[in-house]
Amino acid sequence: MNYNETITMDSPIMGSIPTQNLHKLSDEIISENFRQSFVAYQNNITTKPLLLNGDAVTILRNLPNECIDFVMTSPPYWGKREYENGGIGMEKDYRDFIKNLSIIFAEIKRMLKPEGSFWLNLGDTYNAKGLVGIPWRVVFELVDNQDWILRNSVIWNKLKGGMDNSKDRLGNVHENIFHFVKQAKGYFYDADAIRSKPRESKIVNGAIVSATGVSGVRYKRQIELSTALSDSEKTTALSALQEMLAAMEAGELSDFRMIIRGQQRATHSDKEKVSGRAKELREKGFYFLKYHPKGSKPFDVWDILPEDTQRREAHFAPYPTDLCQIPLLATCPKDGIVLDPFCGTGTTLIAAQHLGLKSIGIDISRRYLELTLRRCDSL
Ligand SMILES: C[S@@+](CC[C@H](N)C(=O)[O-])C[C@H]1O[C@@H](n2cnc3c(N)ncnc32)[C@H](O)[C@@H]1O
Repeated sequence: MNYNETITMDSPIMGSIPTQNLHKLSDEIISENFRQSFVAYQNNITTKPLLLNGDAVTILRNLPNECIDFVMTSPPYWGKREYENGGIGMEKDYRDFIKNLSIIFAEIKRMLKPEGSFWLNLGDTYNAKGLVGIPWRVVFELVDNQDWILRNSVIWNKLKGGMDNSKDRLGNVHENIFHFVKQAKGYFYDADAIRSKPRESKIVNGAIVSATGVSGVRYKRQIELSTALSDSEKTTALSALQEMLAAMEAGELSDFRMIIRGQQRATHSDKEKVSGRAKELREKGFYFLKYHPKGSKPFDVWDILPEDTQRREAHFAPYPTDLCQIPLLATCPKDGIVLDPFCGTGTTLIAAQHLGLKSIGIDISRRYLELTLRRCDSL
């Protein structure tokens, strides 16, 4: 094949698999009667993953509609390496790779409950010097032709680039993770489950002070000395400030900022058509920015080291379990079922099991599923 560059240096390397005793585990891997096994698993209380061995499309077509709550997966890169038993990723043309992936993702959409979520981690590839743009090509296919709704494009910053011998381009250190849903409203999302705990306000000399030092004293002075506010605007602003401090003391918000006409740099567009805050500032002379009392939500750039730089006894290309944490906590209900149709060594399933969730893993390679079993058993 003609792939003269690879994009990630620490990208999947499914090598050097220790084989000791793996055959003993093989009985727990299902290679036929997928539907019956799935239904039995659904009705069982175990959270040990169900492992299905075979081609993802063939297996998925055997499973019922709308039975899965959450999917997270990382398909093979296009043209990067041959996994055991071939599988997807070895197509000569990237368009065929995208077509094959989209057949699988159509099955995922059928199986996903209406309120479910699909998280896709996809790497890119260089071909004849050009970065192909595989991740976004797949997104466009899914959004344009399968009616998926893309809610987030997360940048996974791997923090450490690996070996890179190229002399005419930058090193690559990120991958994409996309969050798709089936319906615009009513999909399961527990934002509180992923908020970082807010730093606490405290009482200093009898007055409430936020974790970032807001006590209202400076705002009060600015209002009183303002030449941009009328007297009645000053009165309104001072009493609104008092209310805000009282709300902070009562624990209804963790922190706030006050934007006062002529004082602070506004954090909105000046165009009133675009910004209600610009209107508020013109009409009232001030507005507040309130911090959520339960803490802030994560942003869409995640700094997470790849698994091979974390202590694992063997490296099999997996994404790290940390990568599954936010998706699982935010978008999988506590009694939900997780699916990874390219489960490899089972990282998604391990993360699910940690959270007490049921999960199903599919892989064309029996050996990787045996490793998944071994990892789950060692939990
Ligand atoms: C990038 S790896 C997944 C790594 C995984 N996230 C982990 O934690 O180990 C992709 C996996 O897809 C599997 N695969 C490739 N083609 C497949 C197909 N048609 N059906 C099912 N699995 C397939 C490969 O065997 C490989 O294990």
